[in-house]
Amino acid sequence: MECGNRLVLAPMVRVGTLPFRLLAAQYGADITYGEEIIDHKLIKCERRLNEDIGSIDFVEKGTHNVVFRTCHEEKNRVVFQMGTSNAERALTAAQIVCKDVAAVDINMGCPKSFSISGGMGAALLTRPELIHDILTILKRNLDIPVTCKIRLLKSSQETVELAQQIEKTGVAALAVHGRRIADRPRDPAKWNEIADVVAALSIPVIANGDVFGYDDFQRIKVATGASSVMVARGALWNASVFSPEGKVPWEDVKIEYIRKSILWDNDIKSTKHTLKEMIMHHSCLELPEGKAVIKSETLADLAKLYGEEKYYQFVRGNRLLLKGSCEAREPEAAALKPPFLEMHLILAAITARNLEPALNWASTNGDKLEQNGSDLELKLHRLQFLEILQKESRDKALKYARTYLAPFACDHMAESQKLMACLLWIGSVDCYK
Ligand SMILES: Cc1cc2nc3c(=O)[nH]c(=O)nc-3n(C[C@H](O)[C@H](O)[C@H](O)COP(=O)(O)O)c2cc1C
Repeated sequence: MECGNRLVLAPMVRVGTLPFRLLAAQYGADITYGEEIIDHKLIKCERRLNEDIGSIDFVEKGTHNVVFRTCHEEKNRVVFQMGTSNAERALTAAQIVCKDVAAVDINMGCPKSFSISGGMGAALLTRPELIHDILTILKRNLDIPVTCKIRLLKSSQETVELAQQIEKTGVAALAVHGRRIADRPRDPAKWNEIADVVAALSIPVIANGDVFGYDDFQRIKVATGASSVMVARGALWNASVFSPEGKVPWEDVKIEYIRKSILWDNDIKSTKHTLKEMIMHHSCLELPEGKAVIKSETLADLAKLYGEEKYYQFVRGNRLLLKGSCEAREPEAAALKPPFLEMHLILAAITARNLEPALNWASTNGDKLEQNGSDLELKLHRLQFLEILQKESRDKALKYARTYLAPFACDHMAESQKLMACLLWIGSVDCYK
């Protein structure tokens, strides 16, 4: 996993489960951290391939309690964040997940009392020798990158000194949350103190704190000198913060999140918590929507609340249909199930003349399409352009073309000219109406 020049989804307890990580990646996050999981919890787990869902689950032995769920699709960008206060235990825990994730991160910033009292999170910041032991043992024994996330110490000089000690352990990157332990989330992040760390280190520093819009990525990069940026609340409130095309309405992001929660059978508590956070920020939990979310007990309840019953039924139905075929063959075939279902849903949407899901898919997989010499993305934008031209207005179509077709113009000049001619043609037809 490359850590420089990356847009990063921050670790967030009860939020950063698989559907939210995939959501952030769909909108442009390059690296997605999972929620912090305590080493004690992970060492009680065994790895199971979940053939119903197509996921890789780490399940508490003797129970059905999924502690961490991931999937093949995110293997190269998911960071497993761990809470620990012991080097050997951290290694035992990391060895359980290390084949299925891109990197392991140690949380050294959590100021909550349960972390501090267990000697974890921000408690580590005062124990540089323990930090050294934990990071060194992980670095020596794992084949994947090791990173860690800290907060600011009392003075910038102390933070820089600690960061330099951390760098010496051989970590691949250091995330710095620009607040001190005593700071509240509403206190402004101190980007200038992150800058001091960046200036003193050679490894990539991931700057974190107060990024709420796409423009902030550039602002924090300039202010700190960091090439990578990590976002927590800005992504929680609207995961499309990572999109260079600007944010999409939060209601649309919310529905996409609910669909992903259904597709990956997310823990209802996590989905509800995340939705509640979104609603609290944009609206109010006391209104009917908030009350109904609080009352929901299952994903089926949420699907009904948001008019996604058909999607829910489709996913459930196809899981049952595919179960036999996956069990009979390679267990790894199960990993193909979610992409298959997703593709099915995209095709169903295209049939209903809704190109949005296909366009989202093509933009997330733009690199792969390009590698294969595919012009699918252009073709989809062309269709969408014509749809807007026919159903809406020439102005809107022109705006769409400027945003989405212009980047293809150099390599597809003839095609672009033809499409621009459509604008004129539609106009001339209008004259005869
Ligand atoms: C809901 C929530 C959960 C969080 N959970 C974690 C966590 O599990 N591990 C961690 O290192 N930081 C956690 N944080 C802190 C964030 O990763 C981040 O450092 C902090 O919110 C500052 O970034 P922001 O200004 O973009 O929100 C959490 C923050 C929020 C809002």
